[in-house]
Parts: sequence; C-alpha cells; structure tokens
Amino acid sequence: MKLDYETSLKNFSEAFHLSKIETRRGRDLVPGGFSRRTFNYGPHAVFAKSGEAQYINTIDGKRLLDLNNNFSTNVLGHNHPAVVRAIEELLASGFSFGNPTGHELELAQLLCERIESVEQIKFFCSASEACLGAVRIARGYTGRKKIAKFEGGYHGFADDLAISTHPSPANFPGPNFSPRSVPDSDGIPAYKVDNVITLVQNDYKACESILRRHAGDVACIIMELQSCAGGIVALDEGFVRKLGDLAKELGILLIFDETITLRAAFGGLQSLYETKPDLTVMGKMIGGGLPIGAVGGSRQIFRIIEENQVMMSGTHHGHPMACAAGLATMRVMDRDAYQKLNRMAKTVRDQLNSWAEEKNYPFVVFGDFSILGYAFTKEPGQTITTHRDYWNKIDDEKMTIYALEMATRGYFPVHRGQLGLTLPMTEEDIAGYIETTKNIITEIYAQY
Ligand SMILES: Cc1ncc(COP(=O)(O)O)c(C=O)c1O
Repeated sequence: MKLDYETSLKNFSEAFHLSKIETRRGRDLVPGGFSRRTFNYGPHAVFAKSGEAQYINTIDGKRLLDLNNNFSTNVLGHNHPAVVRAIEELLASGFSFGNPTGHELELAQLLCERIESVEQIKFFCSASEACLGAVRIARGYTGRKKIAKFEGGYHGFADDLAISTHPSPANFPGPNFSPRSVPDSDGIPAYKVDNVITLVQNDYKACESILRRHAGDVACIIMELQSCAGGIVALDEGFVRKLGDLAKELGILLIFDETITLRAAFGGLQSLYETKPDLTVMGKMIGGGLPIGAVGGSRQIFRIIEENQVMMSGTHHGHPMACAAGLATMRVMDRDAYQKLNRMAKTVRDQLNSWAEEKNYPFVVFGDFSILGYAFTKEPGQTITTHRDYWNKIDDEKMTIYALEMATRGYFPVHRGQLGLTLPMTEEDIAGYIETTKNIITEIYAQY
C-alpha cells in the first residue's frame, strides 16, 4: 500500500505519543520543549529513556537502532564497559579541580600520535568553542580579521561562524563567484557577517577568484572535508589540494574541522587526503559522550598561546571526566574498529545504491565512512556535490516520510539525511536496516 505523509505522521504520532506529551510539558519550561533545536524529529522530539549498546529505549517503550548516536558522538554506542569504568574511577576519586590532571595529557598524547598534523592540543568544552578558539588563534597568528568558510559548513552556533550553514534560494545567496554570507539567525551583528567570506564546495575556480580578491584580509579557511550538519557533501581530493596550495601561497591558515570526520580513519579523515591543515578542530567522539572540544596544531602556531599573545581559558577546559571517557573511547577505536565501521558503511551504501538503481528509484546513499548521507532526489541518478544541490535536487516530503517511518519501524537516523554507524552494530542490524529501507521506499513509490 502507498505510504504517504499523512499516514507516516499518524504512525509516528501513535508510536511516540508519550514523547509528544513530554515535548508539550517541556515547552512550559524550555523554549521549544528542549535545549537542542536539532532534536526535533518531524512534529516533536523522541525522548530517550536509556541506551543499550547500539540501541536506545524511548519513554514510549520503543527500542530503536540508534543511527543518530548523539549526532555522531557515541561511536562505541551506549554504555561501553571501558567508558563506564573510566567514569566510575573518577567518580570515586573526585572529578573537578582547579589543578590539571594527567587525563588531559594522556588524551592529548594519543591524539598527537594519531593525527600527523597535530603536535599540541588545547581542550575546550564543545566544538563550537574550539572552532572559535581556532579562529582566534588564526587571527592572532596572521594579524588578519576575515574568515573564509563554505556554504553548508557547520562550525558551531557562535556569531563568527553561524553563517551560511543553511542558506536557501529564499535568502538570495548569489552566484558561485560571489556568494552572499547569510547569518543563520537573528541577533548576529552585521559586522560579524561582513567578516565572513563564503565559498561554494568543490568549485575551485570560484573559490580561487574570491580568495585572491580578499587575500590580504583572510586569516583562515575553516572547512569540513565532509560537511555533515549542513548536509553531507564530501570535498574532492583535487579540490582540497589546490585550495591548500592557494592558502599557503596567500598566507592563509587552513583549519580542518574534524569534529565529526575524525571517525573516518585512525588518523582522521585528513590522513586520507594529501593536504594537511595548520589547525584541526576536534570534538564529539574524543569526549566519549561527555562535553568536549579541542584544537590541535603545530608547536610553532601554539607559541602564541604559550606566550599569552592569544588568551583563551575556561573553568571546564580539559575536564578530567570528558578526557578520561574520551581516552577510553579512543583506545577502543583501534585500526580494526575503523575498518569494521567503514566496512558496514560500504555495505549499506553499495547494497542500497545498486538496488535503487536497478529499480530506478530516486534514492541515493553517499559518503565513505561511518557517517553516511542519504537523499530522496527529484530524479533518479542525481548526485550531491555541493550544498546548493540540496536546494535543487531534494524531495523534502519523501525525506520526511522516510525518517518518520524509519523511527516507527525501529530505526533512528538523523532525520535531515544522515546515518551514523556504531561499533556494536551487527550484520543483522545492518541487514535489518537495509531491508526496512527497501520496504519503505517501495511503499513510498507504490502506485496505490
Ligand atoms: C563539524 C562541526 N563543528 C562544530 C560543531 C559544534 O560542536 P558542539 O555542538 O560540540 O559545539 C559541530 C556540531 O555538530 C560539528 O558538526
């Protein structure tokens, strides 16, 4: 039988009716019902009661395969014994000091050993803070004030960077050769927006012309090698190489925001690219589920922090609990773990794409690691290589029907078109996800 929007909404509302009530209760207390706008899943959020390895149990009594994993953070799933042990040890010994502890140093050492471009690390409490820190370091180091970033690139919610993450044709974003910087929110002052130069992904000619025009003013280019929150788009190897060469020529620092993409490989996604960044932003998985952010880079650049030329400090920076949980997580994430995750991602992508192609359904899975993108496109065979493709090619209604129905049937992706895989997932979980996706797509495109 044909699956339409009204039916999927009705199914979702019935399955998650207690979450609906809880959202309503929350609205009296917290604007919108909860603190993270991104929780909204169609009409309301789905409230979690507990986590259990690769699953979440909701307050509605449903058990879901967690393909969100806190927007990519929980790479080991929930309650991994090594992470629980690390936290329990700290609970017994105290976990908040006005002194440094060794946990920070051990996590820093592990990350410096794994990520080739990183010699030193400064920790923060979130990746939003770390992105701001990276930008201040770049401005302090170069003495320049402008930031270049990509349309569809998300680097946290701060005024300096919450710009052109989700521009749309309604914002008149301009042509590739001079995109307009569009604030993501009211309340961001115009002078912040004026300091941001916006670029279009994978269009080197346009990027070069823009960057040469502003060369003497640009402190840094901040970028995700595969954007996530603003829509999944991977940058081509050749594009990144040319951009890196140009940045070097123009004295612009290159910042790779690997908050999510660190999951791609033992040395981060940058280890699969020839070009290396001056600064690397990290977050999410390196905190093992607790709040964290970090900036890594060379000793030469970090001298400006060492010598107090650039100041940044926070009460909870380098928090022992987050560092201990992160260290336990990263130790479990050995080379085999990355391989297992990437193998599962390849199975999902290859099997669904060849099936959709054979059936001529306009559905595509893309990405090369355990954070995959999926899209219902307007025509079969369409691909997504820039943020702008999302405006022109996506069938929004089908995206919503699919996400609502997946949740109802026991699978919990990020509704905007993102799938996160976790280490405890089994072949049966992956097969179940693929089968359920095929069933839903078949029903969406059924004639009656
Ligand atoms: C690439 C990237 N950078 C920065 C951030 C901000 O991280 P946080 O939510 O920890 O502030 C995010 C969050 O989704 C992200 O995906």
